[in-house]
Amino acid sequence: MKVLVTGIDGYSGWPLALHLLHRGHEVAGVDNFVTRRRVREVGSWSATPIPTFSKRQASVRALLGKEIEFYRGDVSRFDFLRSVLEKERPDAIVHLAEQRSAPYSMIDVHHAVRTQVENIAGTINLLYAIREVVPECHLVKMGTMGEYGTPNVDIPEGFFECTYRGRTDSKLPFPRQAGSWYHLSKVHDSGNVMFATRTWNLRATDVMQGVIYGIRTPELTDDRLLTRFDFDDVWGTALNRFVVEAILGLPITPYGRGGQTRGYIALEDSMQSLRIALEDPPSPGEYRVFNQFDAAYSVNQLAELTQEVAGEFSLHPVIEHPPDPRVEEEEHYYAPIHDELRKRGYRRSRELKEVLRELFHDLQRFRRRLEAKRHAVLPRVNWREANNLPQLSPSRAAPSPPEPRPGGALSAGPVGESTGPDLPPRQHLEWCGAE
Ligand SMILES: NC(=O)c1ccc[n+]([C@@H]2O[C@H](COP(=O)([O-])OP(=O)(O)OC[C@H]3O[C@@H](n4cnc5c(N)ncnc54)[C@H](O)[C@@H]3O)[C@@H](O)[C@H]2O)c1
Repeated sequence: MKVLVTGIDGYSGWPLALHLLHRGHEVAGVDNFVTRRRVREVGSWSATPIPTFSKRQASVRALLGKEIEFYRGDVSRFDFLRSVLEKERPDAIVHLAEQRSAPYSMIDVHHAVRTQVENIAGTINLLYAIREVVPECHLVKMGTMGEYGTPNVDIPEGFFECTYRGRTDSKLPFPRQAGSWYHLSKVHDSGNVMFATRTWNLRATDVMQGVIYGIRTPELTDDRLLTRFDFDDVWGTALNRFVVEAILGLPITPYGRGGQTRGYIALEDSMQSLRIALEDPPSPGEYRVFNQFDAAYSVNQLAELTQEVAGEFSLHPVIEHPPDPRVEEEEHYYAPIHDELRKRGYRRSRELKEVLRELFHDLQRFRRRLEAKRHAVLPRVNWREANNLPQLSPSRAAPSPPEPRPGGALSAGPVGESTGPDLPPRQHLEWCGAE
């Protein structure tokens, strides 16, 4: 099958592309490299150095003997997206190309608007382009478990049976209670995908993705193929920050009381799940929802596990609790159902502790890159503030750059990135050759 991955340069897009190539699928990708630029905007970078996309393509050619067709551009530009679909005519599209940081969306009004406009416009563009060009195509849309919030009842997979005033509806969308402008953009996406699927007889899988952890999959065995690992307060997940704090000799910092519980899944298992969804598409007109996570942990549990594994590496971090910069329940019930993928053959392949060991092992090698950005690990974005730019001070982070609208011209084949590599060229070459 031919799969188009939007957001192919990202943390999960890149390993997905490699996984699908290994399974014998054809892969094409779209990206505008905005995550690279926005991580720099908050004064950070990926712990793992990421080569330019042209170099990534060259590594795939050299190591796997395969080609990835690539289109640089912004999915919030309809003409660009439609021309990619006309050229590729994919059987399936995995849509990952969205602004994915909750703290980034909470920086100020401009970041909030940017997040919602880009994310919602990108998905609507994609729905129209699919309808026009490839109506049979299966859309796998990346949502988030964060759409549901933390209700005091079990969370079904998208729909539930509801009886109200003596009448019953057997398939009502389960209420969403998102906790940031970012999460709300995903809620709006879900409504839009459900509506378009029903109205135009499209087929869609809306993935309620849990937090992904780890940087290795069976396909990411060579350093030239590594994916990004973000660890700053804006782009890094709690687990990523805990591991880096332990390596840097800082306290591990679960926010608030630490009972905030979420669903998590290893990178390899998230790729497995997406592949299962792709290889078992829904029928025309069918909109289905998968809760894609493997196990739930509180941030206190993650902190304790990280502390325990750090000990195996002769690191002895303490655990401290800064006030929670987010507005969220710090102790709550959490029981989402996640049966749909298991029914289709999903099996856990990685244990959290095992992945933690792998992370400590990998990241110690990039310690200098962690040290250089240690100022960016503690929280700087507070949900209660309307303007968090002063905390992201200019000495620590570049001011928010104006957002250029990439030309949107269809440019296939090997290209560099629009915003320059995230390492100076010399270091970049050194890493590609040696580290
Ligand atoms: N990583 C997680 O734990 C997690 C959890 C839940 C949901 N998700 C969702 O999964 C998707 C992928 O996440 P990720 O962690 O790989 O994020 P990422 O930021 O690393 O990757 C997204 C990629 O899309 C690109 N992109 C963003 N906006 C674009 C646009 N308008 N046009 C073209 N390219 C654009 C970025 O440059 C980046 O390379 C996102 O939609 C995210 O919300 C991720």
